[in-house]
Amino acid sequence: MATPLCAAAAAAACRLYVSPPASLAAPGRGRSRRCLVAVRAEAGVGGINPAIRKEEAKVVDTVLAGELSKPLTAYCRCWRSGTFPLCDGSHVKHNKETGDNVGPLLVKK
Ligand code: FES
Repeated sequence: MATPLCAAAAAAACRLYVSPPASLAAPGRGRSRRCLVAVRAEAGVGGINPAIRKEEAKVVDTVLAGELSKPLTAYCRCWRSGTFPLCDGSHVKHNKETGDNVGPLLVKK
C-alpha cells in the first residue's frame, strides 16, 4: 500500500507524474494537466525483497533485448518470483493476499 507524503518528505521519495482523472481535471483544460504524486513503499523490516539473492549488496540484472529467446519476455517486479528475474506468476498470489497491484515488466524482442 502506498502512502501519500507531505511536500517536504516527497523530496526524498519516488515521484510519479500522472494525468488526473477527468473528474479532477481543470475546467476547460481537459485532462492535459499533470499532477505530482509522491509515494513511499511500505516495505517493512528488511526492505521490499523478501528472499531473492540477499547475499548480494544490490540485485542487478542485465539483458540484451536482441538476445531474448522469445518475442515477449516477462520480468518480475514483485520480488516474489521463484525464477527471478523472470516472472513466474507469483505476483497474482501476492496481489490477492495484500491488495497490491504489481505485475511484470514485459520486454518485446
Ligand atoms: Fe513477480 Fe510476476 S512473479 S511480477
